[in-house]
Amino acid sequence: MNITVQFHPIWLRINHWLNAVAFLVLMSSGWRIYDASPFLGFRIPSSLTLGGWLGGALLWHFAAMWLLAANGLAYLLSGIVSGRLRQRLLPIGVTALLSDLRAALSGQLAHERLDHYNQVQRLAYLAVILDLLVLVLSGLVLWKSVQFPLLRTLLGGYEQARRIHFLAMAGGGLFLLLHLLMTALHPRTLLAMLRGH
Ligand code: HEM
Repeated sequence: MNITVQFHPIWLRINHWLNAVAFLVLMSSGWRIYDASPFLGFRIPSSLTLGGWLGGALLWHFAAMWLLAANGLAYLLSGIVSGRLRQRLLPIGVTALLSDLRAALSGQLAHERLDHYNQVQRLAYLAVILDLLVLVLSGLVLWKSVQFPLLRTLLGGYEQARRIHFLAMAGGGLFLLLHLLMTALHPRTLLAMLRGH
């Protein structure tokens, strides 16, 4: 008998992989834009950047920005309407989180059930969703500073929004590094995210 269990619906898988492409394009073109006026005292090696020059990088950045924003909205709406977001990412409890965190740090956190995220995963996914929200909001201030005066004030002004945007990029990059490491340790999860079952 051939039993197939569906873990990730097709809309989620398409959404996830589009998101991965959008994030990588945004990050690498964003590094090129940063290099045109570095405010942190270092430059990113141009071999790691996308766009070739400032104008080219801005074109890539704006294109991927729409993809990330539209895709993120679709993920949140589908997740809320289908109830998947609540089922998979909530609840998070302090005791359970600390226990899963201890297990993860000692390399003993099991991930047997692919339809169930442990507490560390839930926290990481919720954190990256929030991080991407900050990324988009601070990006709006950098893109259309005059049109979003309230948002600009809330973020502490244009220069501060630049720093927040950079920090949110770094948070997303750190998430991606850990996410790739965990995926490499549990390759079954990658198959499920590709095939759905
Ligand atoms: C580019 C390489 C990437 C790979 C190989 C990858 C792989 C995976 C895999 C295998 C899962 C399922 C985990 C499990 O079942 O335990 C997953 C889920 C997830 N990934 Fe990624 N991912 C990538 C990029 C990203 C990026 C760039 C983001 C966001 C910035 C992201 C955010 C998420 C989120 C939020 C989930 C949970 C989705 C849900 O079930 O609602 N991933 N990823």
